[in-house]
Amino acid sequence: MSTPRAAVILAAGKSTRMKSTRSKVLHHVGGRSMLEWVAQLARSAGAEKIVCVVGEENADVRAAAEALGLEIAVQEPQLGTAHAVSSAKKALKGFKGNLAILYADTPFVTKRTLNRVYKSLENGTDVTVLGFEPENPGAYGRLITHKGELTAIVEAREASPEELAVGLCNSGVVAASVKNMFWALDRVDNNNLKGEYYLTDIVQILRSKGKKAKAIIADTEEVMGVNSRVDLAIAEMAFQVRMRQAMLSKGVTLRDPDTVYFSHDTSIAQDAEIGANVVFGPGVKIAKHAVIHPFCHLEGTKIGEGAQIGPFARLRPGTDMGAGSKAGNFVETKKAKIGKGSKINHLSYIGDAKIGVGANVGAGTITCNYDGYFKHQTQIGDGAFIGSNSSLVAPVKIGKGAYLGSGGVITKDVPSGALAVARAQQSNKAGWAKRYNAAQKKRKAKK
Ligand code: UD1
Ligand code: MG
Repeated sequence: MSTPRAAVILAAGKSTRMKSTRSKVLHHVGGRSMLEWVAQLARSAGAEKIVCVVGEENADVRAAAEALGLEIAVQEPQLGTAHAVSSAKKALKGFKGNLAILYADTPFVTKRTLNRVYKSLENGTDVTVLGFEPENPGAYGRLITHKGELTAIVEAREASPEELAVGLCNSGVVAASVKNMFWALDRVDNNNLKGEYYLTDIVQILRSKGKKAKAIIADTEEVMGVNSRVDLAIAEMAFQVRMRQAMLSKGVTLRDPDTVYFSHDTSIAQDAEIGANVVFGPGVKIAKHAVIHPFCHLEGTKIGEGAQIGPFARLRPGTDMGAGSKAGNFVETKKAKIGKGSKINHLSYIGDAKIGVGANVGAGTITCNYDGYFKHQTQIGDGAFIGSNSSLVAPVKIGKGAYLGSGGVITKDVPSGALAVARAQQSNKAGWAKRYNAAQKKRKAKK
């Protein structure tokens, strides 16, 4: 059995460079907040206890972290990364296991990498640091190694020219047993150029007690931090590039990959085909052989096998398109279950609705689902035919195989197999147009 795992997520920063009224770590990448990425990472690597360190100013982060089921530790004021981790001491009291420190603004560390970090502790290292080799090491802390062991982390501003020349940098992910971590943190001081308590000092502190430190190396892409809107845009692009490659390599056709945007959880089966300019919000699952034509926006939606969507369709949360069904151009759906082979081909709004199998919804059909206060259901039975330009005033039920004349405002249930016509009767006046035109032409000629 592996040693129990815990994580502390540092999120007490002020995030001034983001220029945002919202805390930085709540900004989204790939359809979810950076905080959620990191919480999910910790969880996926098996962390049983996850403590999020927030400042008093970060009420929004606190609320979001609580909603994610994280424990909260408040750090006020912010006196450095060691001080931040120390504020989680109470929350971790009595936890016998290993602890990894993660930054909430570094969303892309993979489960595999974090697993390697925990594993290295399980294999006898006392303190493990995740390093990387950026093109430009700049202000990152440098990892000083000797014969495969990590001897120290030196912050850039405190480094000698030789140390600055080291290319191996600190990603910020540091791990040790809870016991070693807090023992060392109690011994960190702030005698340095920034006057801060540096988490990085624990390496030398633990080594001076004969403990073993090691660096593990990650891809630079994984440990990219987000500090500004520019970084956020770069992170989003990097995420999209990865998703496009992953989709292509699992056998999804992307007609113009650079114009398709995914969310973290977009799931598309093999042999589905995605046209240009398609955006997937969170919660989309697409079965094989489905086709999403260009210019569609999907969110919280399930697409069945071989279904055809768009071009220009907007499928909102709660949409469930059955196998072989269709939603064509300028169709909007929401909380709508569409049965196998049913078609909504043009210019419709279908919300809070359940449509059976093999139904045909004519152009311009609207489910009038909202009365200004409450939402109501529309039900359409198997094989029903909804004439073009029908308004279905919910709650309303259209029976199996019923037939609705075009242009109806349907306020009453329609029995199975019935014809419903709900519009003013047409009256034709023979010869009227001819007489009218002749009279008008005469008047105009006199002027
Ligand atoms: C830190 C590391 C550096 C590493 C770099 C990677 C230290 C001393 N230095 O430097 O070696 O290369 O990250 O990005 O650890 N935070 C708090 N409370 C605080 C201070 C910071 O929660 O009191 C949080 C911040 O919100 C941030 C993270 O900790 O998410 C890192 O803090 P930051 O000030 O950015 O550290 P760096 O100087 O970049
Ligand atoms: Mg930083």
